[in-house]
Amino acid sequence: MADPLHTISITLRGAFAAVTGLAAEDIDPVVRPSDRADAQSNGALALAKQTGRNPRELAQAAVDTGALAATCSAVEVAGPGFINLTFTNEFLAEQLAAASHDDHLGVRRAPIERTYVVDYSHPNVAKEMHVGHLRTTIIGDSLVRMLMFVGHRVLRENHIGDWGRPFGMLIEHLVDIGEAEAAHELSVGDLNGFYRAAGEKFEADDSFKERARQRVVELQHGDPETLRLWRLLVAESTRYFNEVYRRLGVLLTDEDLMGESEYNDELPGVIERLRNAGLLDESDGAEVVFPPGFTNREGEPLPLIVRNRVGGYNYATTDLACVVDRIDRLHADVLLYVVGAPQAQHLEMVFAVARMAGWLRPPTEAVHVAFGNVLGKDRKMFKSRSGETVKLSALIDEAVERATAAVRAKNPEMDEAVQDDVGRTVGIGALKYADLSTDRIKDYVFDWERMLAFEGNTAPYLQYAHARICSIFRRAAVDRQTVTSSAIALADPTERALALHLLHFDSAVNDALERYSPHRLCTYMFDVAQAFTAFYEACPVLKAPDEATRLSRLALSDLTARILEQGLLLLGIGAPDRM
Ligand code: ARG
Repeated sequence: MADPLHTISITLRGAFAAVTGLAAEDIDPVVRPSDRADAQSNGALALAKQTGRNPRELAQAAVDTGALAATCSAVEVAGPGFINLTFTNEFLAEQLAAASHDDHLGVRRAPIERTYVVDYSHPNVAKEMHVGHLRTTIIGDSLVRMLMFVGHRVLRENHIGDWGRPFGMLIEHLVDIGEAEAAHELSVGDLNGFYRAAGEKFEADDSFKERARQRVVELQHGDPETLRLWRLLVAESTRYFNEVYRRLGVLLTDEDLMGESEYNDELPGVIERLRNAGLLDESDGAEVVFPPGFTNREGEPLPLIVRNRVGGYNYATTDLACVVDRIDRLHADVLLYVVGAPQAQHLEMVFAVARMAGWLRPPTEAVHVAFGNVLGKDRKMFKSRSGETVKLSALIDEAVERATAAVRAKNPEMDEAVQDDVGRTVGIGALKYADLSTDRIKDYVFDWERMLAFEGNTAPYLQYAHARICSIFRRAAVDRQTVTSSAIALADPTERALALHLLHFDSAVNDALERYSPHRLCTYMFDVAQAFTAFYEACPVLKAPDEATRLSRLALSDLTARILEQGLLLLGIGAPDRM
């Protein structure tokens, strides 16, 4: 409980309860950081409405209880009934010591542990991972890390596209070129070449087309040899995906694979249950459900097709089976789908049907964590120079290459192996941070220069701030373990400002989780790094006027470095100790 905003909320809840007679649990004092003071409470406004009292008078009455005197040096009722709060330095120093002693640096554990199933990354077998997969993979992974950090049970699900009609032509192409050659092409990452070659034959050659059709039937009927070939395709592709995950530093492993094919056996049951619930309709020969509230452009009810005219199941059927599986087998409380914004309607319809069927019931919830597009500098979809979609592996290569060059230029004296290592961490960090630091709903422009800049809201800037603190300790020849508990005195305004930022780590993580928006944590981290820069310019650390001040500033620097490192880790980004 190191965040003063949280401590003050509890105090004010008690004060407002005393003056209104309402129960403390029902009161939200709405405490926020403020430009005028350290914090502001806006709670009196809503409470006044609720109790029919004057908001200023209510705010003053809460102040007059004297409850804030222990933690605030100045309290002022302003405007229509805001309370402006200035904390005492002693209170802040106490909170800093608490944060510093806490292995979670002041971030509270969730009051109730819930089970989150996070559906992310989900590339398609035998297809290249491209820049679109960057967003779901990076955002999903960061949410997983934050949810685990606050103490939830988190299950990762990689819903890869490993089933469907294209597998007929893919398997026949594999048979044509031979298993060894296919394995080679797929494992070196020429997934697009493989897929394209299969597609071209399918278009050009009628006998191939016929073989491919036949293969789909065999696959659906579970012909052992066909299944063996299919498994080969899946295994080579996932081996390649794993390599991308490893390079990106993403948590996903084979354990998390839960492809579309895994639900095949459940699909007839899904239809049966929908039929028994009286939800199935017929539309143009297909079996459908009409969830209320969804209409097409003509205003006609929009069906969710669960079985097509020829009896095949589709993406929606699988997603319904998926909802059932995640709730019944995995006991999920929250289903997160980190999927691009264009699938919003599909997912909303799936959720609606799952609710109609009674599978998805409060308090269990399903959330589409949607995200926008990655754009080129021309503000059109990000493409390579030759106009093709950009392979994720190529982006990783280029990020690492560019960052390593920058690290070499900045640190010519550094050991080459260390340069490579730091270059990798900075390059991958830059790539991830550029994605995470913009509001996920928005599109963002992919820009190498900006994401790799050592100035501005970038990973290199944050990593550099962290490395700089590590270097202070190296030069001071002080063991960081020994400074954390020393008393921090906040004399200079920049020390105080930095301290306040450090104490908001808890709010930052929780705000980010509340909206499933990692960019909120990024904004916080940038504020911390800037506050540190201002402090470091104003307050000499190693050449502090006296030993007590030196120790206090070292302690403040150490806590800053730990929060930067932990915050970056929650974003899936490394923090080298020199760069
Ligand atoms: N593989 C799908 C695609 O490429 C995304 C899967 C998203 N997850 C889900 N449960 N629908 O569009």
